[in-house]
Amino acid sequence: MSDMQQVTHVQNIHYDKVEEALYIIDQTRLPGEEVFLRLETAEEMYQAIKLLQVRGAPAIGICAAYSLYALARQIPHGTAEEFYASLCKAADYLNSSRPTAVNLSWALKEMLAEAKRQLELPREELLEVLYAKAADIHADDIAKCTAISEYGLSLLKDGDGILTHCNAGPLATSRYGTALGPILLGTERGMHFRVFSDETRPLLQGARLTSYELQRAGVDVTLICDNMASIVMKNGWVQACFVGCDRVAANGDTANKIGTSGVAILAKHYGIPFYVLGPTSTIDMNCPDGAHIPIEERDGDEIRTMWYEKPMALPEVKCYNPAFDVTDHELIAGIITEKGICRAPYTESLAALFEKN
Ligand code: MRU
Repeated sequence: MSDMQQVTHVQNIHYDKVEEALYIIDQTRLPGEEVFLRLETAEEMYQAIKLLQVRGAPAIGICAAYSLYALARQIPHGTAEEFYASLCKAADYLNSSRPTAVNLSWALKEMLAEAKRQLELPREELLEVLYAKAADIHADDIAKCTAISEYGLSLLKDGDGILTHCNAGPLATSRYGTALGPILLGTERGMHFRVFSDETRPLLQGARLTSYELQRAGVDVTLICDNMASIVMKNGWVQACFVGCDRVAANGDTANKIGTSGVAILAKHYGIPFYVLGPTSTIDMNCPDGAHIPIEERDGDEIRTMWYEKPMALPEVKCYNPAFDVTDHELIAGIITEKGICRAPYTESLAALFEKN
């Protein structure tokens, strides 16, 4: 894995077909440095996802799709069955990097299904089919984010205050993003919003990434600590909460960055609509409810020491560090997808999305 020079135009994931090389921006080094990493081995791809160098549910899926294509190119020559078995092994390995965001397994399954369909093709043609599939997943996410942004924008008025948690902007997806999409699209059209970005402890996605993306786009963004969401709501500064999602269960229960459910509970208290924005690839109809969503638990050192110049807790102190929580469907005013805005009862409105085609 090698560092590249700083660039001004930020593209979170890029597959260079001439070089046959996968590049990601290292999100852990933002906003201080824009450094691109070239991912070559399965271990580098796995670690990039696990360490959050690439993060955000759709971005993880896109990166995994290109990674699987890149790994397919490295499979030694053999029979079609041997090729497919090696591809499945590589997919299982990538899939084990993070458990909660369903886009990871979704994208890998899409790639494997395509490989299985075209397995009889000569190797070079099969590889091209896999590249096309990964590029398609990427292009499709751009289209989905654009549609989500339009639907989300239809819920906002000029001058609205919006509170968001974690980062669901272009870095976490492609182009506009999901939760930040309506804000960026509206801003492009001359609208003005006032955004409150939760800093999002412990990994600071709100401070490092959301406020960076919005500030660069010329949006009026104010960074707050997570425990300040209540006061800005009480002050009447927030007209809507927009958040992303990592997995939406069939009943509408939604896993998103740790702290999201607290925002939803506060929003309910203050009578503020709380919206979840995400593509249909984040909806897991095989998962009946939030209790069935696997929640990633991360190292306690992310709480004790990370981002501090020196540790802020005793090294031996116990920490509990779940990376996500589940927001109960009853707290959600709407789930905004590329196919439209779903309202309660979600068991019906989400199922209807998948009946449409
Ligand atoms: O741990 P992270 O940073 O990958 O968590 C990301 C989130 O929780 C995002 O809100 C979610 O993936 C939606 S991204 C459009």
